[in-house]
Amino acid sequence: MVQATPFLLVLFLVLGAHGLSVKKCALTGRWVNDLGSNMTIKILNSNGDFSGIYNTSVSATTQKIIPSPLLGSQNLPNQQNQSTFGFTVHWSFTNSITVFTGQCFVDNDGKEVLRTMWLLRSRVESISSDWKATRVGTNVFTRLQLQE
Ligand code: BTN
Repeated sequence: MVQATPFLLVLFLVLGAHGLSVKKCALTGRWVNDLGSNMTIKILNSNGDFSGIYNTSVSATTQKIIPSPLLGSQNLPNQQNQSTFGFTVHWSFTNSITVFTGQCFVDNDGKEVLRTMWLLRSRVESISSDWKATRVGTNVFTRLQLQE
Protein backbone atom coordinates (compact mmCIF):
# COMPACT_ATOMS: atom_id res chain seq x y z
CA MET A 1 0.00 0.00 0.00
CA VAL A 2 2.84 2.37 0.98
CA GLN A 3 4.63 1.59 -2.31
CA ALA A 4 1.48 2.09 -4.34
CA THR A 5 0.84 5.60 -3.00
CA PRO A 6 3.56 7.47 -4.99
CA PHE A 7 2.55 5.55 -8.13
CA LEU A 8 -1.09 6.51 -7.70
CA LEU A 9 -0.10 10.10 -7.02
CA VAL A 10 1.94 10.28 -10.25
CA LEU A 11 -0.89 8.61 -12.21
CA PHE A 12 -3.39 11.09 -10.80
CA LEU A 13 -1.15 14.07 -11.70
CA VAL A 14 -0.52 12.79 -15.24
CA LEU A 15 -4.21 12.14 -15.90
CA GLY A 16 -5.19 15.45 -14.28
CA ALA A 17 -2.69 17.40 -16.36
CA HIS A 18 -3.91 15.64 -19.48
CA GLY A 19 -7.51 16.51 -18.65
CA LEU A 20 -6.61 20.16 -18.20
CA SER A 21 -4.66 20.31 -21.43
CA VAL A 22 -7.43 18.82 -23.59
CA LYS A 23 -8.65 21.61 -25.87
CA LYS A 24 -12.28 22.53 -25.38
CA CYS A 25 -14.69 23.41 -28.15
CA ALA A 26 -13.09 21.57 -31.05
CA LEU A 27 -16.35 20.25 -32.54
CA THR A 28 -15.03 16.78 -33.39
CA GLY A 29 -17.04 14.06 -31.64
CA ARG A 30 -20.62 13.15 -30.80
CA TRP A 31 -23.26 15.63 -29.68
CA VAL A 32 -26.90 15.42 -28.60
CA ASN A 33 -29.44 18.25 -28.58
CA ASP A 34 -32.51 19.18 -26.56
CA LEU A 35 -34.77 17.31 -29.02
CA GLY A 36 -32.75 14.11 -28.68
CA SER A 37 -31.18 14.45 -32.13
CA ASN A 38 -27.53 13.52 -32.32
CA MET A 39 -24.68 14.24 -34.65
CA THR A 40 -21.16 12.99 -35.17
CA ILE A 41 -18.59 15.47 -36.40
CA LYS A 42 -15.50 14.04 -38.01
CA ILE A 43 -12.05 15.57 -37.89
CA LEU A 44 -11.73 19.31 -38.50
CA ASN A 45 -9.20 20.10 -41.20
CA SER A 46 -6.63 22.89 -40.84
CA ASN A 47 -9.11 25.44 -42.26
CA GLY A 48 -11.77 24.45 -39.72
CA ASP A 49 -13.90 22.67 -42.31
CA PHE A 50 -15.64 19.49 -41.20
CA SER A 51 -18.14 16.87 -42.27
CA GLY A 52 -20.32 14.52 -40.28
CA ILE A 53 -23.61 12.71 -39.88
CA TYR A 54 -26.81 14.08 -38.37
CA ASN A 55 -29.50 11.81 -36.97
CA THR A 56 -32.62 13.86 -36.25
CA SER A 57 -35.17 12.59 -33.76
CA VAL A 58 -37.99 14.64 -35.28
CA SER A 59 -39.17 15.61 -38.74
CA ALA A 60 -41.70 17.93 -40.33
CA THR A 61 -42.40 15.12 -42.83
CA THR A 62 -43.89 11.64 -42.55
CA GLN A 63 -40.85 10.07 -44.25
CA LYS A 64 -38.83 7.43 -42.44
CA ILE A 65 -35.90 9.24 -40.84
CA ILE A 66 -32.43 8.14 -41.84
CA PRO A 67 -29.03 9.61 -40.88
CA SER A 68 -28.02 12.48 -43.16
CA PRO A 69 -24.73 14.14 -44.09
CA LEU A 70 -23.64 17.50 -42.74
CA LEU A 71 -20.94 19.90 -43.93
CA GLY A 72 -19.66 22.86 -41.98
CA SER A 73 -16.91 25.19 -40.86
CA GLN A 74 -15.67 26.36 -37.50
CA ASN A 75 -13.45 29.28 -36.63
CA LEU A 76 -10.44 27.39 -35.36
CA PRO A 77 -10.71 26.81 -31.60
CA ASN A 78 -6.92 26.93 -31.14
CA GLN A 79 -6.83 30.50 -32.47
CA GLN A 80 -9.82 31.78 -30.50
CA ASN A 81 -11.67 29.96 -27.75
CA GLN A 82 -15.46 29.58 -27.65
CA SER A 83 -15.52 29.86 -31.42
CA THR A 84 -18.38 30.24 -33.89
CA PHE A 85 -19.40 27.69 -36.50
CA GLY A 86 -22.02 26.85 -39.08
CA PHE A 87 -23.12 23.72 -40.87
CA THR A 88 -25.67 22.52 -43.40
CA VAL A 89 -27.62 19.27 -43.15
CA HIS A 90 -28.70 17.84 -46.49
CA TRP A 91 -31.54 15.52 -45.45
CA SER A 92 -31.30 12.14 -47.13
CA PHE A 93 -34.96 11.19 -46.65
CA THR A 94 -36.67 14.34 -47.93
CA ASN A 95 -36.02 17.41 -50.06
CA SER A 96 -35.45 19.96 -47.29
CA ILE A 97 -32.21 21.53 -46.07
CA THR A 98 -31.33 22.88 -42.63
CA VAL A 99 -28.60 25.40 -41.86
CA PHE A 100 -27.34 25.78 -38.31
CA THR A 101 -25.15 28.55 -36.96
CA GLY A 102 -23.88 28.86 -33.44
CA GLN A 103 -21.13 29.21 -30.90
CA CYS A 104 -19.46 26.76 -28.57
CA PHE A 105 -19.30 27.86 -24.93
CA VAL A 106 -17.59 26.32 -21.92
CA ASP A 107 -19.91 26.63 -18.93
CA ASN A 108 -18.90 27.14 -15.28
CA ASP A 109 -18.50 23.37 -14.80
CA GLY A 110 -16.14 23.15 -17.76
CA LYS A 111 -18.83 21.53 -19.90
CA GLU A 112 -19.00 22.37 -23.60
CA VAL A 113 -22.35 23.56 -24.91
CA LEU A 114 -23.29 24.51 -28.47
CA ARG A 115 -25.92 27.25 -28.67
CA THR A 116 -27.38 27.25 -32.17
CA MET A 117 -30.09 28.73 -34.33
CA TRP A 118 -31.38 26.97 -37.41
CA LEU A 119 -33.43 27.57 -40.53
CA LEU A 120 -35.22 24.59 -42.06
CA ARG A 121 -36.19 25.13 -45.68
CA SER A 122 -38.84 22.77 -46.99
CA ARG A 123 -39.71 22.47 -50.66
CA VAL A 124 -43.03 23.96 -51.69
CA GLU A 125 -44.80 23.49 -55.00
CA SER A 126 -45.06 27.14 -56.04
CA ILE A 127 -43.90 30.63 -55.22
CA SER A 128 -47.26 31.43 -53.71
CA SER A 129 -46.34 29.03 -50.87
CA ASP A 130 -42.89 30.49 -50.33
CA TRP A 131 -44.04 32.40 -47.26
CA LYS A 132 -44.56 29.18 -45.29
CA ALA A 133 -41.52 27.26 -46.49
CA THR A 134 -38.97 28.24 -43.83
CA ARG A 135 -39.06 27.29 -40.17
CA VAL A 136 -36.73 28.80 -37.58
CA GLY A 137 -35.66 27.58 -34.17
CA THR A 138 -32.90 27.04 -31.66
CA ASN A 139 -31.12 23.95 -30.42
CA VAL A 140 -28.67 23.39 -27.58
CA PHE A 141 -26.17 20.59 -27.97
CA THR A 142 -24.00 18.92 -25.33
CA ARG A 143 -21.25 16.40 -25.85
CA LEU A 144 -22.26 12.74 -25.71
CA GLN A 145 -20.06 11.25 -23.01
CA LEU A 146 -20.17 7.68 -24.30
CA GLN A 147 -17.83 7.97 -27.28
CA GLU A 148 -17.64 4.83 -29.42
C1 BTN B 1 -37.48 17.68 -42.36
O1 BTN B 1 -38.34 17.41 -41.53
O2 BTN B 1 -37.75 18.31 -43.41
C2 BTN B 1 -36.07 17.21 -42.17
C3 BTN B 1 -35.68 17.03 -40.74
C4 BTN B 1 -35.58 18.35 -40.01
C5 BTN B 1 -35.22 18.20 -38.56
C6 BTN B 1 -35.13 19.52 -37.84
S1 BTN B 1 -33.69 20.45 -38.24
C7 BTN B 1 -33.96 21.53 -36.91
C8 BTN B 1 -34.48 20.71 -35.75
N1 BTN B 1 -33.41 20.20 -34.96
C9 BTN B 1 -33.32 18.89 -35.02
O3 BTN B 1 -32.47 18.21 -34.42
N2 BTN B 1 -34.26 18.40 -35.83
C10 BTN B 1 -35.11 19.44 -36.32
